[in-house]
Amino acid sequence: MRPRAPTDATDPVVLRARLAKLEPVAAAQPGSLRIVRAPGRVNLIGEHTDYNRGYVLPTAIDREIRIAYAPTDDRRVVLHRLDTGQRGAFDLDHLPERVGGWLDYAVGTAWALTEAGLPLRGLRGVIGSNLPTGAGLSSSAAIELAVAHALLADPADAPDPMTLARLAQRAENGFVGVQSGLMDQFAVACGQAGSALLLDCRSLEWRAVSLPLDEVTLVVCDSGQTHRLAGSEYNVRRSQCDAAVAVFADRDPAVRSLRDVSPELLEQAIVGGWLEPVVLRRATHIVYENGRVIDSIAALERRDLAALGRLFAASHASLRDLFEVSSPALDALVEIAVGTPGVVAARMTGAGFGGSTVNLVRPDAVAGLRSAVESRYATQTGFTARVFQVIPVAGAGLMPNPGVGPLPA
Ligand code: GLA
Repeated sequence: MRPRAPTDATDPVVLRARLAKLEPVAAAQPGSLRIVRAPGRVNLIGEHTDYNRGYVLPTAIDREIRIAYAPTDDRRVVLHRLDTGQRGAFDLDHLPERVGGWLDYAVGTAWALTEAGLPLRGLRGVIGSNLPTGAGLSSSAAIELAVAHALLADPADAPDPMTLARLAQRAENGFVGVQSGLMDQFAVACGQAGSALLLDCRSLEWRAVSLPLDEVTLVVCDSGQTHRLAGSEYNVRRSQCDAAVAVFADRDPAVRSLRDVSPELLEQAIVGGWLEPVVLRRATHIVYENGRVIDSIAALERRDLAALGRLFAASHASLRDLFEVSSPALDALVEIAVGTPGVVAARMTGAGFGGSTVNLVRPDAVAGLRSAVESRYATQTGFTARVFQVIPVAGAGLMPNPGVGPLPA
């Protein structure tokens, strides 16, 4: 399958024209135009397991952010968002403080790359996107990775994708202030066309996992209930997991993260009343969610779609009842999906608190899912959902051919 044709928002011709209009001087330098792309991601299974050093199974998707830019020698970064018309600017030698807006992701990335000693250049750029923001599809990681590639003085000398992913995570943790794990930046940086990615968040070993895309297609339902990670319950969940680790580590020093807690040890904790109820619920989700990732890999290998459906259902129920990060809107989308013939598996994806669901759907059932959502979801929840198919694509990087010939006037 080929990635979808670019929409206007990411079409290189449109991006070039907008750059020429907004930044005529920089764009007029001969041969200066570059375009970087960075996809969003959808996580198939393994939710909130990354910062617990467990397993995740995301895939990069063909909804992406592109930056068309001209590098400059003045150490100044100017970015224009084409969707909102906003302009953001900063100086690489005097990075501004965090202000709580989209530019933080760019400044934070410049900060993390500078701290790592990487040579950067200024630029004038425009950002086009067909990746919804606030939909739980990692638009922030996509901005970070796109900006990282654009800022590198010598793209030929770019660090490997995993290194860039870790630097982008540093930007998020150390500058933006969200204590997120590595999954989003990893998926955006390391995506592989046609495959999902199994990452072991303890060893950072990963491999591509092929998906039965001849039998099922990936469908995202964006709930229309936007989530914001910063200022959300995300950091609270993380500290509850840390609280659980501290209790387990007191009894067994070999436990460094919830990844190290077996179902048997968890059982002892239940019997012994070691954990407060809320902390126990969080830990129980993580311990069994890790097992579900491994079981999903096995189910994918034997093309057992029914088993995948059960694993997705169990993951969703656990996120709803134990980790408590789902929402009535996400629950409604999952309920509508699993009641639609030809939908093989459905669950919420990403951090939760709004955002999207991920669905495995027989190709001839996509229209049925769309009309079931259209007829029931808005009346049930008051939100408007968007239903779209996605395909797994390659991770972020410079586009090989940003378009030839002179820039349009
Ligand atoms: C967000 C974070 C990720 C991960 C997911 C939940 O997307 O950025 O690191 O924790 O939530 O699985």
